[in-house]
Amino acid sequence: MNIVDLPIPESVKEVLIKSGITKLYPPQEEAIKAGVLDGRNLVLASPTASGKTLIAELCALKHVLERDGKVLYLAPLRALASEKYEEFKKYSVITKRDGGKVSVGISTGDYDSSDPWLEKYDIILTTNEKADSLLRHRAKWMDEISLVVADEVHLLNDVERGPTLEVVLARLMQISPDIQVLALSATIGNVEEIGAWLKADYVTTEWRPVVLKEGVLLHDEIQFKNGEARKIEQETKNMAINLALNTVKTGGQALIFAPTRKSAVTIARKAAAKIGEALSKSMKRALEREAEKILASGEKTRISELLAELVKCGVAFHHAGLGGGHRRIIEDSFRQGKIKVLTATPTLAFGVNLPARTVIIQDYRRYEPGYGYYPISVLEYKQMSGRAGRPRYDKIGEAILIARTDDEADYLMENYVLAKPERIWSKLAVERVLRTHVLATIAADYAHTEYGIYDFFGRTFYAYQYGVSPMKNIIARILKYLYDEEMIYVSGENIYATRFGKRVSELYIDPISAVIIRNSVRQKPAVLTELSLLHMIAHTPDMRPLMRPSTSELDKVALFMEEHRDEFMVEVPSEWDDQIMHEEFLGEVKTAMVLKAWIEEVSEDEIIEQFRVQPGDLYRIVENAKWLLYATHELAALFSNKEVPPLTRELMERVDKGVKRELLPIVRLEGVGRIRGRILYNAGYRTLEDIKNAQVEELAKLPSIGPKLAKKIKEQVGGFVRKETWEKLEKEKEWQQKALTEY
Ligand SMILES: Nc1ncnc2c1ncn2[C@@H]1O[C@H](COP(=O)(O)OP(=O)(O)OP(=O)(O)O)[C@@H](O)[C@H]1O
Ligand SMILES: [Mg+2]
Repeated sequence: MNIVDLPIPESVKEVLIKSGITKLYPPQEEAIKAGVLDGRNLVLASPTASGKTLIAELCALKHVLERDGKVLYLAPLRALASEKYEEFKKYSVITKRDGGKVSVGISTGDYDSSDPWLEKYDIILTTNEKADSLLRHRAKWMDEISLVVADEVHLLNDVERGPTLEVVLARLMQISPDIQVLALSATIGNVEEIGAWLKADYVTTEWRPVVLKEGVLLHDEIQFKNGEARKIEQETKNMAINLALNTVKTGGQALIFAPTRKSAVTIARKAAAKIGEALSKSMKRALEREAEKILASGEKTRISELLAELVKCGVAFHHAGLGGGHRRIIEDSFRQGKIKVLTATPTLAFGVNLPARTVIIQDYRRYEPGYGYYPISVLEYKQMSGRAGRPRYDKIGEAILIARTDDEADYLMENYVLAKPERIWSKLAVERVLRTHVLATIAADYAHTEYGIYDFFGRTFYAYQYGVSPMKNIIARILKYLYDEEMIYVSGENIYATRFGKRVSELYIDPISAVIIRNSVRQKPAVLTELSLLHMIAHTPDMRPLMRPSTSELDKVALFMEEHRDEFMVEVPSEWDDQIMHEEFLGEVKTAMVLKAWIEEVSEDEIIEQFRVQPGDLYRIVENAKWLLYATHELAALFSNKEVPPLTRELMERVDKGVKRELLPIVRLEGVGRIRGRILYNAGYRTLEDIKNAQVEELAKLPSIGPKLAKKIKEQVGGFVRKETWEKLEKEKEWQQKALTEY
């Protein structure tokens, strides 16, 4: 089917053809035949890279251009929402019936807002969590949504993210019974069930843009699913590296999935020398520049230095411990074909579009802290193997599992290569998960009676799979808890949220966290310090996953805890009464210590050294802490606490920036973070007034500042830079750069 023949507006066809898309892929044709452009609900289950997004795009534009509709696109991760936002932006050149242009908006942060500004957008991208929080704020514009797209809907199976997604979909269908639902999914075992729940037809395909050959590598030979075999030269002891080397030497790229961060780094290190030898001179020069980019982005740490070294050899690792900036550089550079071998933990397997000719699965097991090793699911295997084959670059993609023994080779062939993906199951009926959704249902006026609550939960995927009865007991327990903690009250047959309950629901925190915060702000500790608050938020279940001090750290953490005993807002459990609680408590203390180090301006590298906490983890803790401090701030105000709000206000900013108090005024300037702020401060520019009085030349001379930023800083404090001064500075810089490249 050609794009020109489709029943879509001409303006959309133009945009598509301009971006190089002229014909539909077969799964796209099937989706259209199933009536998705006529407003029918649809679950499209199709392999990785088979073009599911395009169907969402066509459907969205149909709504916006022909029905004056509004579209909500749900993505499971922030990074994915931004990726889709960029893809949708290409349509903003199109004019609508009312004369305006198609507008695309994105909102993924700040859970305590109804974002009224989103109203003016036609297509809105959010994460599932953000959509859930918007529904709790009863954002008015959400009633106008005529199409919801649920991307990666197989995540319904995920313990953490699944329940939010099903609650959001159930609510949207409750508010707007006529809403069109388009769910996009990887191939799974029970598409028809999801379809039936969403009152949708379904299309399943196995079609892929690049042929996929799956197989198992044992010693020096790959056995493929189709019976073929191929020998691989054994240049090193590591089979994954041998295979990657083979791919690179024949002009391809390889993606190696490793079970842990540590193994991803180890394999990358081992691969670097060999891969480096196989690169051309010009490629090496290009890689030098990528390495420089890594060193120039964010703080220099042992991780970024190692990463830069490896990148020079065309190798990199990718895992959740890396900072966002570094991750993006690696992803782009891999997409551009510069990095040849990328090792990654399975987090990379879903969503991020990073195809490679050869996907190597180093270990079929996966490691989860606290659980140990377990075999990955077929669904996960399919998502990893699906990354094989770059459209337009590779004729064939290969996905290879590594086996160590004959038995293991047979096991892998049977249980992964030849296996069908599992069915997916709702994970909603867990008290921890339901608690927050039950409160939200009452607090945001979705139901006011016990019957109404069951009615709502009766619309979820869980109820579709198991019926509502198994949830009833849990819901009853939750209602009692919310009542006892004064988040809801009863009047006759009706249930309403108290002010506390309403605020907790809006703040998007676990009711248990809210109780911890409330109790803490009600009774203050002997000594109230910033540590009191940092520990208290680390004690809430929203600061998950829990940090576990290593054996070698235990003494240090325990000592710190003793020294600060009178500052804690929660009782310190006795080591003798409850050992598990005591250990958890030490984990919370460690989290607080990390946050304290961060706001004391300890460098990222020292944080890695002292606490074994990597930049990606630090980022996650910081984000959680900001949100929980905000919640504490709001709840303290609600309970008329006078001492906490001034502390939380300052702490939120310090945690955000990672600075001591004295740096706050200057890090508020754009372009000035903790490092540059400290440089300015130590050079004597301690206040905005100091900077205002400074000469721009002086600022420009400071390390890591330079003329451009110096000018930007001056302009922000209302300073004025004379044209001649500026031109002189620019000239000097040019001259310096010339000198650098010439010598
Ligand atoms: N009809 C088409 N012709 C050419 N290229 C296409 C076509 N449809 C989609 N593509 C391209 O295919 C690539 C993969 O598409 P998309 O991201 O939609 O995959 P997906 O099915 O959502 O996979 P995933 O499971 O990874 O999310 C994109 O780069 C897209 O531009
Ligand atoms: Mg997709």
